[in-house]
Amino acid sequence: MATLEIHDLHVSVEADNGPQEILRGVNLTVKQGETHAIMGPNGSGKSTLAYSLAGHPKYTVTGGTVTLDGENVLEMSVDERARAGVFLAMQYPVEVPGVSVSNFLRTSATAIRGEAPKLRLWVKEVKAAMERLSIDPVFAERNVNEGFSGGEKKRHEILQLELLRPKIAVLDETDSGLDVDALRVVSDGVNRVRESGEVGTLLITHYTRILRYIKPDFVHVFAHGRIAESGGAELADKLENEGYEAYVKGGATS
Ligand SMILES: Nc1ncnc2c1ncn2[C@@H]1O[C@H](COP(=O)(O)OP(=O)(O)O)[C@@H](O)[C@H]1O
Ligand SMILES: [Mg+2]
Repeated sequence: MATLEIHDLHVSVEADNGPQEILRGVNLTVKQGETHAIMGPNGSGKSTLAYSLAGHPKYTVTGGTVTLDGENVLEMSVDERARAGVFLAMQYPVEVPGVSVSNFLRTSATAIRGEAPKLRLWVKEVKAAMERLSIDPVFAERNVNEGFSGGEKKRHEILQLELLRPKIAVLDETDSGLDVDALRVVSDGVNRVRESGEVGTLLITHYTRILRYIKPDFVHVFAHGRIAESGGAELADKLENEGYEAYVKGGATS
């Protein structure tokens, strides 16, 4: 079974006034089939963790290890990570002018599966996935994320998730900016992928709202660049009632 292991991860970002340490010793193990919610206040480093796992060049790992099935993820390039089965749904998906959704998906699937999917089957597969996510078929010919609304971008991220079937899915604030209907569609998509039992999910969220639809096995509170507390789904209820104040006050400041 695939396992992502993050051990004592320290990450700095190059800011205008020099390097700033953002992650200060993250420890987390995510196994295939498990769903971990990472919750925490704004600025606590949740997106930094997501980007660091995906290999964003702006984030420098200054200590610790990340392995997927014992393989050193930190030594892999961004596309090697994707091929190894690490998937990131970004908090702010980027526009890719000149590249259609259809081309983008097929190119990604080809890279990850190691061969181009048979065209006829692929067209069917994409069509069905788009239907399940209530994405209008015309989106296939639109440029990736260009002029998409917030909700359309998030649906497109989940479309990739469904088609690429990663081992570890990092979903960064996939719920932000969604109305209730879109939230349900997106959550259903995540749940379909989870039900396969083949994906370990890192569900990063600021709000407990999405946890009504996607039930986490574990909840972790992120504060000041590390996990301040871990528990089961009941921890999310506590956060719903009490907020993050105790964690914000408690930790070190930068
Ligand atoms: N590229 C960057 N340049 C400068 N500061 C950054 C950059 N990325 C993140 N930070 C800082 O790191 C901290 C954590 O940010 P982030 O990981 O986005 O938090 P979260 O996702 O939990 O809201 C914030 O103080 C943020 O300003
Ligand atoms: Mg964030």
